[in-house]
Amino acid sequence: MYTGLLHLHNLLRWVILILLLVAIVQSFSAKNNPGSGGLKKTSLWLLIAAHTTLIIGIYQWFAGELGFKLIQQNGFGEVMKNAASRFWAVEHLTGMLIGIVLITIARGKVKRGNAGAASWLYVVALLIILASVPWPFRTGIGRPWFPGM
Ligand code: HEM
Ligand code: HEM
Repeated sequence: MYTGLLHLHNLLRWVILILLLVAIVQSFSAKNNPGSGGLKKTSLWLLIAAHTTLIIGIYQWFAGELGFKLIQQNGFGEVMKNAASRFWAVEHLTGMLIGIVLITIARGKVKRGNAGAASWLYVVALLIILASVPWPFRTGIGRPWFPGM
């Protein structure tokens, strides 16, 4: 089950990134044209993808080898000294949590018709999430582009 959820967590990254790009384009154009549809749907699917990734991530952090167990076995100080364990135990979680909170706030703005505010929240969320993904080219923490590759 752990592997299956990890694959889903990996794949949902692409759903989130693509929907974020769509939401950014839609929210910037909706600013001048409040009647334009689409954004409400996009913001809801993006929110659902982000929240699903969040609960899988919380499960991985507690049940897997790269979260709570790292801190339990090595102590927080040692985890912070090592770039790879710090990434998994702290940075990935913190960055993604902020990104997901912004996506959640932005959805609220869209619901209340404030696409202008949502657009910037989406841009910041995209940048933070891009910086927190364990891209294959990142040394020590690189993970596959697609599930199980
Ligand atoms: C740790 C897990 C989760 C947390 C902390 C969380 C938190 C939240 C928060 C704070 C809101 C915003 C409420 C508002 O402002 O109206 C929300 C809304 C929502 N969440 Fe989650 N959520 C979690 C998991 C999930 C999951 C697993 C799903 C679905 C697969 C989900 C789907 C939704 C939906 C559909 C909404 C309402 C969207 C709307 O109509 O605006 N959430 N959640
Ligand atoms: C936008 C949200 C997120 C994205 C895009 C994302 C993306 C990813 C990716 C691409 C991987 C590598 C998957 C693989 O090896 O195939 C990963 C692993 C992981 N993520 Fe996330 N993540 C997100 C949120 C979170 C959150 C909120 C948590 C913790 C609460 C979390 C915890 C983890 C953990 C512990 C792993 C490693 C699991 C293992 O290898 O045992 N993630 N994440």
